[in-house]
Amino acid sequence: APWRVTVLTLFPEMFPGPLGHSLAGKALENGIWSLETVDIRAFARDKHRSVDDTPFGGGPGMVMRPDVLDAALTDIRERRLRSLSGTPVEGAAGEQGQGETGLELRGPEERGPEERGRSIYLSPRGRVLTQDMVRDLARAPWVTLLCGRYEGVDERVLEEHSLEEVSLGDFVLSGGEPAALCLIDAVVRLLPGVMGNVETAGEESFERGLLEYPHYTRPALWKGRVVPEVLLSGHHEKVRAWRLDQAERITAERRPDLWSSYLDSRPAPKVKQR
Ligand code: ADE
Repeated sequence: APWRVTVLTLFPEMFPGPLGHSLAGKALENGIWSLETVDIRAFARDKHRSVDDTPFGGGPGMVMRPDVLDAALTDIRERRLRSLSGTPVEGAAGEQGQGETGLELRGPEERGPEERGRSIYLSPRGRVLTQDMVRDLARAPWVTLLCGRYEGVDERVLEEHSLEEVSLGDFVLSGGEPAALCLIDAVVRLLPGVMGNVETAGEESFERGLLEYPHYTRPALWKGRVVPEVLLSGHHEKVRAWRLDQAERITAERRPDLWSSYLDSRPAPKVKQR
């Protein structure tokens, strides 16, 4: 089954955007993952199709309305439960006898892992995305991403739908859409059959908590700059050791935070018995 992602946005035309190209684009064509965009405005109920309003308590900007977002999130959740329980999704809305599957009577904690979808609100307030979190998301059968605009969304809808908040980092984007594109890209490259070389993703330094070692290609001499001798030697074990050493040096220099975790997670050195 493909990895499914549903994006709730006021700007569905931003998708798939860059994800329609290159590795992710090919994987999308090959059905390794599937993308659905849901236009939040389609769930607006008043004649002006309003999706936002001024913040209670005053202040600048607009806040996305909880009732509109709730309608969109509820629709997605119902389709997800039907589809993951094996009931056809196409045209099923409203026709399916409620109570037949019993799914709507069970809370999230009673569902099996194959039913468990993840719902995420992209926000600078969230947990900062890491490769471990990306790996987890790649294992979820269906991920829903809510993209906010303006000052944000009404807090109550985050509680009502148990949305996890995820941030790309300590900076502010004008909306969640570019963050959703980044998150999806990071997941898709981990899906089986996406990377040209199946091994590549798992063997990266980053997967072991280190930054990448330096890379070189032809020409061997360029603008008076040479390629490190060891890489031309054909001595695989020495190449491996050199790369690890470089990855460690660069990580220690640039990212003391990653370096500390790396040192902590390394197996304790064997004490020689004698
Ligand atoms: N939306 C706005 N800023 C963001 C960030 N830094 N990460 C995720 N979503 C965002």
